[in-house]
Amino acid sequence: MSNAEPEALHPFREVPPRTFDTARLHLRASGLSDLELVFKLYTNDPIATKYMSWPRSTTVEDGRVFLEIVEDSFAGISNGALEFVWLIQVKQTGEFIGSCGIGTQQGSTVGGGYILSPPFWHRGYAAEAWAPVVEWAKTQPDIHRIEAVHHPDNPASGAVMRKVGLTFDRIDHKRNGYPNLGEGSVDELVYAWVRT
Ligand SMILES: CC(C)(COP(=O)(O)OP(=O)(O)OC[C@H]1O[C@@H](n2cnc3c(N)ncnc32)[C@H](O)[C@@H]1OP(=O)(O)O)[C@@H](O)C(=O)NCCC(=O)NCCS
Repeated sequence: MSNAEPEALHPFREVPPRTFDTARLHLRASGLSDLELVFKLYTNDPIATKYMSWPRSTTVEDGRVFLEIVEDSFAGISNGALEFVWLIQVKQTGEFIGSCGIGTQQGSTVGGGYILSPPFWHRGYAAEAWAPVVEWAKTQPDIHRIEAVHHPDNPASGAVMRKVGLTFDRIDHKRNGYPNLGEGSVDELVYAWVRT
């Protein structure tokens, strides 16, 4: 009989806070009740989703499975993958502008990302929103690496990664990783924070 500890399911020892606040933004955990909101805000938007790794939603229901995973994750339920996603709201106006998140990837590596509705680009919101999420992830001792990737034609996303403290790691030759651009290979840029 082995004395080995059972393998941890994931590197998140704790469920993250349901809310974060920054100077200009309020983040709150998303869930199934946000299905219609995220559809209108960005999942159905061809510009916002152009460089995302998931296909643009064409119906509100397309987002259901993912938001179920998100809701379960915040409830501490893992069926393999964990996805923590927060909706981003501008404090001053109350407007919802997009979301950011972090989730399991492989072993002690977690992956994250962000998406804003186009009218809210170019104001520094993505980095401001994602920074506290990344900082929280660093407090989880079993997380050894935080990764994010972007398409070479989406350099603003790389700027966001650098702003929150990730550094360029490598280029991955990715096949069919960008469903909204069609099939094909692309040299994807990988950024990372690594625990030393
Ligand atoms: C990518 C995205 C999150 C950026 O968010 P944002 O809040 O508009 O980003 P910022 O305002 O902080 O701008 C990011 C930086 O990129 C720079 N930038 C913008 N376009 C650029 C370009 N074409 N080349 C180089 N840098 C660029 C900006 O100057 C800014 O840097 P600065 O603050 O030092 O001036 C936003 O455009 C978005 O939601 N896009 C759609 C979804 C998406 O692509 N998500 C990422 C998938 S990997």
